[in-house]
Amino acid sequence: MRKQIAAANWKMNCTFQEGEKLMDGILKAEIKLADHQLAIFAVPYPYLLMTRSEVEEEKNYYAAAQNCHHKKSGAYTGEVSAQMLHSLNISYCLVGHSERREYNAETNEMLAEKIDLCLENFITPIFCCGEPLNIREAGTQNEYVAKQLEESLFHLPADKIKSIIIAYEPIWAIGTGKTASTEQAQEIHHYLRSVIAGKYGNDIANEIPILYGGSVKANNAKEIFGCADVDGGLVGGASLVANDFIEIIKALK
Ligand code: 13P
Repeated sequence: MRKQIAAANWKMNCTFQEGEKLMDGILKAEIKLADHQLAIFAVPYPYLLMTRSEVEEEKNYYAAAQNCHHKKSGAYTGEVSAQMLHSLNISYCLVGHSERREYNAETNEMLAEKIDLCLENFITPIFCCGEPLNIREAGTQNEYVAKQLEESLFHLPADKIKSIIIAYEPIWAIGTGKTASTEQAQEIHHYLRSVIAGKYGNDIANEIPILYGGSVKANNAKEIFGCADVDGGLVGGASLVANDFIEIIKALK
């Protein structure tokens, strides 16, 4: 079975102490994950080591970074490289979250560089894509997200794309309380898989987990994750409440 993933994105929330308490609260539930299930916590950089050590003993629980820089190293004050993350034993990193595309002017080309640096450093990128409201209203979301994949991922050879995780996050559903309907989610996830199949073949397309993000909550996770081409979620707000994220992990197929 394809990997099924509950990924938390804390964004710029929680003090260190609140973060520790949140991790403790989630781990206290002692949810045992099956071989094909993962729980990943994308936390602020200063909390990576704490999170990594919290999950160290837990099977299939991982800490992730929310970003890395698109250059290898050098005079980029305040930035964090993929190599630095690897040196901390961090094995997952979000790449191209829509908030970074918007507020940090990240382009598809820069994201392609980040993807390469992550892979060179044995980090699995969780590549985020998704359209803004005006694109959805114009009905051109398929072309929009296909271009995001093509320009940031499709330079990869088949053996490398296999290790990527994709998160489809419609921007109009992020933090708005408005989720895509299960029909909308299934339709575009299926489309994304077909775009990957067109380039790399069905076997590879069927292996790549595609997560849904955008107002996933404890009370809708099961329904969304139930869609055939949805392999779990990337969760913002609800990942900050231990009991809510516990329910979201439990909702994995
Ligand atoms: P919300 O779950 O708060 O809508 O955020 C989604 C998101 O951006 C996760 O990366």
